[in-house]
Amino acid sequence: MASKDLETHLKNEVLYKRIMEFKDADEAKAKGLYPYFRAIESAQDTEVYINGKKYLMLGSNSYLGLTTDERVKQAAIEATKFYGTGNAGSRFLNGTLKIHEELEAKLAKFVNKEAALLASTGYMANLVAIAGLLGPGDAVITDKLDHASIIDACRLSGAKMYRFRHNDIDHLRKVMEKVEEKARLIVVDGVFSMEGDVADLPNIVKVAKEYNAWVMVDDAHGIGVMGGKYGQGTAHHFGLDHEVDIIMSTFSKTFASIGGFVAGSERLINYLKHKARALIFSASPTPATAAVVSKIIDIIYEEPQRIERLWQITHKMANAFKSMGFDIGTSCTPIIPLKINDFEKTLMFWKALSDDGIFVNPVLPPAVPPSETIIRTSYMATHTDEQLDWALTIFEKHAKALGIIK
Ligand SMILES: Cc1ncc(COP(=O)(O)O)c(C=O)c1O
Repeated sequence: MASKDLETHLKNEVLYKRIMEFKDADEAKAKGLYPYFRAIESAQDTEVYINGKKYLMLGSNSYLGLTTDERVKQAAIEATKFYGTGNAGSRFLNGTLKIHEELEAKLAKFVNKEAALLASTGYMANLVAIAGLLGPGDAVITDKLDHASIIDACRLSGAKMYRFRHNDIDHLRKVMEKVEEKARLIVVDGVFSMEGDVADLPNIVKVAKEYNAWVMVDDAHGIGVMGGKYGQGTAHHFGLDHEVDIIMSTFSKTFASIGGFVAGSERLINYLKHKARALIFSASPTPATAAVVSKIIDIIYEEPQRIERLWQITHKMANAFKSMGFDIGTSCTPIIPLKINDFEKTLMFWKALSDDGIFVNPVLPPAVPPSETIIRTSYMATHTDEQLDWALTIFEKHAKALGIIK
């Protein structure tokens, strides 16, 4: 018998059918091949527990492994004790705290910009920056592999959208030739979230100058990873801190929390503070979030060896995968995709790894075409060599058995 909620849905047959006829997830679950929404019963650390079973976590974006750091947890506790659990309003009205402003100043300094503005997620930070700045009659130019939150922000802005082939500067130039709108913003990921490669910022900045466009970098995976001893981001890595107009990033990866920020000139931030609907009509980040990010910036300055270790691990794993015969594409960061290029095989590989206690993320349609599926692996500075060496033997065993490598 239909539940009371389903009976209520029946008053609109189209919507009812839409949700009832969606069976993909049920079918995958029935086959034991459903890789999503796995409930972790422990902290986001190098090892996690699911249904009482231990997994080596090779799918986290906590690049510096700080989600369980005692100093970071203490900072969250102290801020919560002092300010309470939430702000009950947006930055614009009653939700601005002193620690928000202190953190903004600290973040701006970290990325070498005049000012910064917090948002409640990285997704929202893209809405704040792109939909806050652009409107109908403007142009936004994106890399084909830009993150979905960039694309959603572009759609929301109402600006005309142009796309260029991934990191293809000649194509970017061709696209720029066609742009008629006067206000132009080029937006790219600093580090691409699935491929693990880096935007060709020197050339993007060059083309932007030729065509009078601003450049924005989404550095969700670059902050605390790329850009010298302290991981000050992809623009910093290329010495382009001041050539890039807008830097955006998230707190959900290196910064071990949730939230995001936009950084740029003081005038830009002033404009966004008064125009960006995603900022004005949404509540501000919690006190705990602000305290966590602030503490992590201190730790990064005090312990740059964390970033050094992350890169050591990155090189170790990339070299090992390549010598086994895996195709890791253009990856050159702690995001290392294993290209499987076969939907069924990707799921079987994922399942075999999972059965042996390795947590990785399969990237499947609709995120990629069926012929471009991957197993995305990512690393934390706190992984041990023992954990990684063990994982490599498991990857090799199953990849050979499935004919992914010889
Ligand atoms: C490149 C990129 N931008 C933005 C986001 C959104 O950040 P958040 O998860 O904080 O909303 C992500 C997260 O997956 C990302 O990878």
